[in-house]
Amino acid sequence: MPIQTTSKIWHNGNLIPWEQATIHVMSHVIHYGSSVFEGIRCYGQPHGSAVFRLPEHMQRLLDSAKIYRMELPFTLEELCAGAVDLIESNGVTPCYIRPIALRGYGEIGVSPKGSPIEVYIANFPWGKYIAGHGGADVCISSWNRLAPNTMPALAKAGANYMNSQLIHMEAEINGYQEGIGLDVNGLVSEGSGENIFIVRNGVLYTPPLSNSALSGITRDSVLTIARHLGFTVIEQALPRELLYIADEVFFTGTAAEVSPIRSIDRIVVGDGKPGEITKKIGDEFFGIANGLKPDRFGWLTPVKVNAGEPVTA
Ligand SMILES: Cc1ncc(COP(=O)(O)O)c(C=O)c1O
Repeated sequence: MPIQTTSKIWHNGNLIPWEQATIHVMSHVIHYGSSVFEGIRCYGQPHGSAVFRLPEHMQRLLDSAKIYRMELPFTLEELCAGAVDLIESNGVTPCYIRPIALRGYGEIGVSPKGSPIEVYIANFPWGKYIAGHGGADVCISSWNRLAPNTMPALAKAGANYMNSQLIHMEAEINGYQEGIGLDVNGLVSEGSGENIFIVRNGVLYTPPLSNSALSGITRDSVLTIARHLGFTVIEQALPRELLYIADEVFFTGTAAEVSPIRSIDRIVVGDGKPGEITKKIGDEFFGIANGLKPDRFGWLTPVKVNAGEPVTA
């Protein structure tokens, strides 16, 4: 789906017209992938709108920047306030928010020292990322996730998404909705843009971050919700074949939210329908995000915009 434009983009502390948020082709980021970014959702509520886990996302942006020695000239509070100002100025919710910090136009060498850091935040409507209500048909990718000590998997860096593109394109070409990457040792890591959970005998499992997975904010939300609902959750290395014999499997992510998986490599998961535990966790997640259940974990930042209709895929 093409990007639906809004009026303004936040650039280094100022709101500028969407069309003017451009960079030069010789910018460092274009040649070397030197960017870190975030994906955040703002949900419609019965009386306005709210951003889901805004400070946690902006903190991860700062952490990603720190890993890459990018000194962002904005504090956590300034970045959060910038996102709220932008959303209220554009007046568009529900929406997806894309902060990005990049190394701009300066020098052409690999060393980023002479290239200025630019920070942008955009917001725009974006619907369901994983289409279909009955669950996604996915495959195990022939591409592995990033090996430890090569590209840091905990940094949400633009360059990492070359690996995600390989996984996702291969899956799509072969008729699947998404691909799951194994880590360099053949253990389950994550989807091209999602963390993964399985349920077996009533217990939830997800790979630890040391299996080259991003520290997903939705993953953390699901861990919190599952424990709150009284489920046992275990973070442990998962062999590939455990996916095939799981009772339930689902993806989590800001774009994917909580998305059930129907089959993996054409092997049907459970009875092929979204499982009961996936549904319970999804209900709680969407209930909180949409303001229909209490914000018991303090995850919402209100914005003064009345929500329009949710965008569908
Ligand atoms: C590779 C990857 N893993 C996991 C996630 C899920 O992270 P989050 O829940 O913070 O969106 C994403 C999405 O940002 C991702 O791109």
